Amino acid sequence: MKRFYVHTFGCQMNQHDSRRIEEVLEGGGYVAADGTEDADVIVFNTCSVRDKAEHKLNSAVGMLQPLKLAKPDLTLVVAGCMAQQEGPALLKRIPYVDVLIGPDNIAELPTLIDDKEQSGTSVARTVFDLEDPRFLQATARADGNDVTAFVTVMKGCDERCSFCIVPYTRGSERYRSADDIVNEVKRLVEGGVREITLLGQTVNSWHEPGDEADDDSSRFALLLRRIARDVPRLRRLRYTSPHPRHVTPELVAAHAELDVLPWHMHLPVQSGSDAMLKRMIRRYRRDTYIERARALQTSRPGFTLATDIIVGFPGETDEDFEQTLSLVREVGFSAAFAFKYSPRPHTPALKLGDSVPETLKEERLARLFEVTEELQFAHLRSLVGEKTVVLLEGPSKSNPLRYTGRSHRHELVHVDVPAGADARGAEVEVTITHANKHSLLAQMTEDVTFPTLKKASQARIRLPVVAQ
Ligand code: 5AD
Repeated sequence: MKRFYVHTFGCQMNQHDSRRIEEVLEGGGYVAADGTEDADVIVFNTCSVRDKAEHKLNSAVGMLQPLKLAKPDLTLVVAGCMAQQEGPALLKRIPYVDVLIGPDNIAELPTLIDDKEQSGTSVARTVFDLEDPRFLQATARADGNDVTAFVTVMKGCDERCSFCIVPYTRGSERYRSADDIVNEVKRLVEGGVREITLLGQTVNSWHEPGDEADDDSSRFALLLRRIARDVPRLRRLRYTSPHPRHVTPELVAAHAELDVLPWHMHLPVQSGSDAMLKRMIRRYRRDTYIERARALQTSRPGFTLATDIIVGFPGETDEDFEQTLSLVREVGFSAAFAFKYSPRPHTPALKLGDSVPETLKEERLARLFEVTEELQFAHLRSLVGEKTVVLLEGPSKSNPLRYTGRSHRHELVHVDVPAGADARGAEVEVTITHANKHSLLAQMTEDVTFPTLKKASQARIRLPVVAQ
């Protein structure tokens, strides 16, 4: 029996793709290995959104070289956006990579591994399925261990944000039908999943395949309403990443009315300066963003917003950067992910150069970080003493008597549970007792009887995804 090991870099989209890679390999007769040492096939599912991701792949692959030399039969697969970005040139650059597949070619992986074994030469497949787009169905784990799962609603991206490589690596937008989406959500929930995250590059631009795209569309809000109605047992419905352009009054109303939606949104702003937003081709202005953020914040008491920000975009002046700091304060984000601009191949911004010196980028990043950390900590501290409901996802990394979950406002909460309790998937009411810098500690407000943790399932627990 051949064994596989999948290592994931990057975003939630990639984590989702990695699960599909695992399922496809299992379907092809492979079984999961415990680590790289006992694997016959190692898959690196890569990201190329920022240059750091690229460096991470290079060093990870470098570390495997001795293993590959010691085990010539080992098959090394590079999947995902780096594979798509570089194409067969990557096989020349790293000659001991055996198989290269793009994000749209996951289903073909077992066949490609066979081809490579038979021919003895490396193979590459990086073709978009534009004609008759296929969405690989997610399956709940048979052991019922998944509390959260992803469901793809669209692939690719037709935005042309000038810094972004995604339209190149993931192709143009393709949509999945509401029937298909709802059926997959239903199946996952029947398999024990409590929380679904809908995935798409601009997830809230969703519409039925074949329908016309429309900037003022509220069809995504209708999709949310339909899922809430047709899958009443679903406890939480999240989505990522929404584009501010498609935050419509109907979407805000859905948040105000549907209890299944969290009181939270991750809404990337990228910059607080209109000049930068224009150069980034974001297609909204600072005022519009703030207006929409306010509408969301008033849809539910204490609604929280998180964001992504790029510092040091070409031409960013001190004044532009100050605008970003002031927007961050004005909106009052509960969390922010900030990045130094890195020029990416095939992006429109390449022609703008990379004018902000590295030291200035570092300086701006540090200043921004100070503000966002302060906002986050102040927000978390303000919750101490409050009651909230937490959906527990799994034991915390450092302490098995502590489970980690999310509140409905998306704060990361660590909750003490009795020894030997299997609390995965439980929704518990807690009192917040302490604020860490990025998370909360809490105690349950009443005694809850949990099932006992079985030995076999203990081994299979997958830790909750904490990163963005
Ligand atoms: N440089 C820096 N950050 C980038 N992002 C995307 N492309 C770049 C780039 N070229 C950031 C954006 C996006 C997040 C996923 O990554 O903030 O929202």
